Order: sequence, then C-alpha cells, then structure tokens
Amino acid sequence: MKFFVDTADVAAIKELNDLGMVDGVTTNPSLIMKSGRDILEVTKEICDIVTGPVSAEVVATEAKDMIEEGLKLAKISPNIAIKVPLTWDGLTACKAFASEGHMVNVTLCFTAAQAILAAKAGATFISPFIGRLDDINLDGLELIEDIRTIYDNYEFKTEILAASIRSVNHITDCAKIGADVITAPPAVIKGMVKHVLTDKGLEQFMADWAKTGQKIV
Ligand code: E4P
Repeated sequence: MKFFVDTADVAAIKELNDLGMVDGVTTNPSLIMKSGRDILEVTKEICDIVTGPVSAEVVATEAKDMIEEGLKLAKISPNIAIKVPLTWDGLTACKAFASEGHMVNVTLCFTAAQAILAAKAGATFISPFIGRLDDINLDGLELIEDIRTIYDNYEFKTEILAASIRSVNHITDCAKIGADVITAPPAVIKGMVKHVLTDKGLEQFMADWAKTGQKIV
C-alpha cells in the first residue's frame, strides 16, 4: 500500500518523507488556502522533496480552461499528477491529459459509477472520499470495496486512492480491502504509531531499568 500525505505543509511533508513514509502528496484548493502559500511556488517546493506523484488541482470548471490550467501545473515538475473534479468537463480534461501521457487524479468521487467513468477516461488515480460519505451517514469503506471489486472484474489499471481519511481505522480498513493508495493528513499517519499498551509497557521498562542502576555505554 502506498502512503500519500494530504497536505501542502512543506515541513510536515519533509518530516514524514525523511522517514520513508511518503510515496506521494495530494493537495487541493482548501489545503493551498490553509498553507497561505502561492500554489505554483509551494507545489514546486513539494516536488523538490518528494519523488512520487504530487497532485495539484485545477480550479476551472470548463474542460478547455481545465486543460490550460492543468498543462501549466504539469510544467512545475514531471511528477505532477493533474487533479480534476469528477464532472463531465473533468473527465474530458482527464482524457486529454492521459492521452498526452500526464498522470491524472480524478477527485471528488462518491459513487462506484463515477469511478467506472474515471477509469474509462484514463485516470491514473481515482479519489473516493471516505470521510465525507461517513459525515452524511453513508458508508465510505463500502464504496472502496465496490470500486475494488469492479476494477478487479475488468482489470482497470486506475489506482484506488482512498481520500478524505479521518482515522487510523480508515487506513487499516483500506489496507484490508486492498486500496492501492491512501492519502491522509500527517497527524493521522503519525497517529498510527500510538497504542496505550506501548506507552504503558515502555513506562514499566523505564522504571524497572532505573532500578538496575545500569547504563548502556
Ligand atoms: C484528497 O485528495 C483530498 O485532498 C482530501 O483527502 C479531502 O479530505 P477532507 O474531506 O478531509 O477535506
């Protein structure tokens, strides 16, 4: 399973990347806004750190304008995956980018039907949003399962990039289902290390070690 980090926070990306935890990065207009940085500048900085795919999202709504924006984003670095929304215009732009050999991440996917269209339009990645489905009492993980079954049935090459991940359980559940990639905020990825029994066990070991009066030199 590949780990993408869902942020435009360069320091957080660098920290996880140095540990080998980053196979790619996803950004979106809200994350760029949160970073307070210029999109071209911050995306370039991220591409200089990470060798895997870095998703940068178009903001136009018509295919012609999306294509213009996407080509500009693709010029930032060869590892840019152009991110387009799951609309007819987005699929039109996806097809155009894919035909020219660009990586494309089709985002804002909420149904298996949408995921089929993205695969047929040549998407490199499909991004189903788990957390936002859960937010409205629908089952985000069931969507990942459905897309996995469909893509396997027809040997679609598009990778399932599980997005809108809110918890450590989302990540382990996606791994069990067989999502190709998860993209999660740095805090959720770092949260994977935590267990109360790890902390308690370590505390006990430290206390017992102190009683031995020994030092490892
Ligand atoms: C994915 O590419 C999106 O940037 C992201 O996962 C959306 O997550 P959110 O629903 O927590 O905003």
